[in-house]
Amino acid sequence: MRGDSAIPGADTPGSLRGQVAGKVCVVAGAGSGIGRAIAIRLAEEGGMVLCADLSANGAAATAGQIAADGGEGLDWVADVSDPAAVDAMVAAAADRWGGIDVLVNNAGVNIPRLLHEVPDEVIDRTLDVNVKGQIYGCRAAIPLMLARGGGRSRYAATARPPPFTPPSSPACGTASSAPAPPGPS
Ligand SMILES: NC(=O)c1ccc[n+]([C@@H]2O[C@H](COP(=O)([O-])OP(=O)(O)OC[C@H]3O[C@@H](n4cnc5c(N)ncnc54)[C@H](O)[C@@H]3O)[C@@H](O)[C@H]2O)c1
Repeated sequence: MRGDSAIPGADTPGSLRGQVAGKVCVVAGAGSGIGRAIAIRLAEEGGMVLCADLSANGAAATAGQIAADGGEGLDWVADVSDPAAVDAMVAAAADRWGGIDVLVNNAGVNIPRLLHEVPDEVIDRTLDVNVKGQIYGCRAAIPLMLARGGGRSRYAATARPPPFTPPSSPACGTASSAPAPPGPS
């Protein structure tokens, strides 16, 4: 499956081809949805992928799919709102493959509610996962990326209000960004 020209868009400008082979990738929130698709795609492109998720079953299923496709994946359970767990997640990839090149901060929660109805615990959880989790990931990964001359960090979050939210009412979602470390790769 790796390097297979059947990968949609693999030969078009902007393709990942050649950029991921041999790279160590950590995908947080790899247990389902977009994160699973990202993890599988990175592995198809020749990356070694730590598939991290709050859900042990989800992480294992993604890593299992990668293995079934002939790629290299490792499942890992982590709650990205826990800084120690994020440190351990990144360290696990570095211990296994010698460093880290790519961090995909995809883990996120999106609890569709009107802002004026959001309870404190939902606000806290959303910020802890969607904002702090991304910062924790970068904080853990950037020193290891810099040690290899650079790396890439990518984020996924939701800023668009859910469809049933009135246009005048901000939704309980977050978007965040952080600078990627400098470097050629
Ligand atoms: N689906 C969309 O239309 C859409 C649009 C814009 C942004 N996003 C964002 O993209 C990301 C993925 O979306 P999705 O639709 O694939 O969602 P999803 O719910 O299918 O996947 C999110 C994954 O993150 C995991 N996760 C949740 N909290 C976690 C935590 N604290 N620690 C570790 N893992 C955790 C979940 O177990 C799940 O496997 C989210 O951040 C979401 O906000 C999604």
